[in-house]
Amino acid sequence: MRLDKFLCDCSDLTRTMAGKLIRQGEVLVDGVVIKQPAFHINEQNEVEFDGVVLTLTPGHRYFMLHKPQGYVCSNDDPDHPTVFFLLDEPSPAKLHVVGRLDLDTTGLVLITDDGQWSHRVTSPRHECAKTYHVWLADPIAPETAELFAEGILLRSERDKTRPAKLEVLGECEARLTIHEGKYHQVKRMFAAVGNKVIGLHREQVGDLVLDEALAPGEYRELTAEEIAAF
Ligand code: URA
Repeated sequence: MRLDKFLCDCSDLTRTMAGKLIRQGEVLVDGVVIKQPAFHINEQNEVEFDGVVLTLTPGHRYFMLHKPQGYVCSNDDPDHPTVFFLLDEPSPAKLHVVGRLDLDTTGLVLITDDGQWSHRVTSPRHECAKTYHVWLADPIAPETAELFAEGILLRSERDKTRPAKLEVLGECEARLTIHEGKYHQVKRMFAAVGNKVIGLHREQVGDLVLDEALAPGEYRELTAEEIAAF
């Protein structure tokens, strides 16, 4: 593999930046400065940059995070900490969130660097189920489950929502399973029936349930079985 490509793959550097740093003599291969970006290295070579020996992360990375309130599901935000502040992983800029949650929503967030996998989880074609625990400002009207099962028209949408399952857990508390991911969907569904979501927690995506051993802010790698489930 070319030295500049190796440097990019191990870091957040672009190919141009990697080439520049190599030409400046900032990269060592087996203790010797190499200034040619096209220099070929193999697995036996030790590449050092900025005093650190670089290693490639083998394969893709997959995590589940218990998102607390107050964190944004994006790679960069001017006003709030992002969920990536909670990860202690190399090259966080290479990771992305699979299906965002709002700033005030808590619960299961999937994070990966595998674009094809995240497409399978989020693509409307795959109809992956997402289950939320919902707390409401007002008592749930008796016809709500039926309306959600039939699909309802949200403001500024052309089509009705796909059939969703509402399980009433208490006067102002429910579990809702939806099969799509429109913007603020759960909040808008309850707004459409005259109620207001005051608490929202994602419990499950597909067959994957939030690990109850994870406290808010904690995360873990997915197992091979969990990755293969999508
Ligand atoms: N629906 C919402 O309204 N908000 C979320 O964070 C997730 C689903």
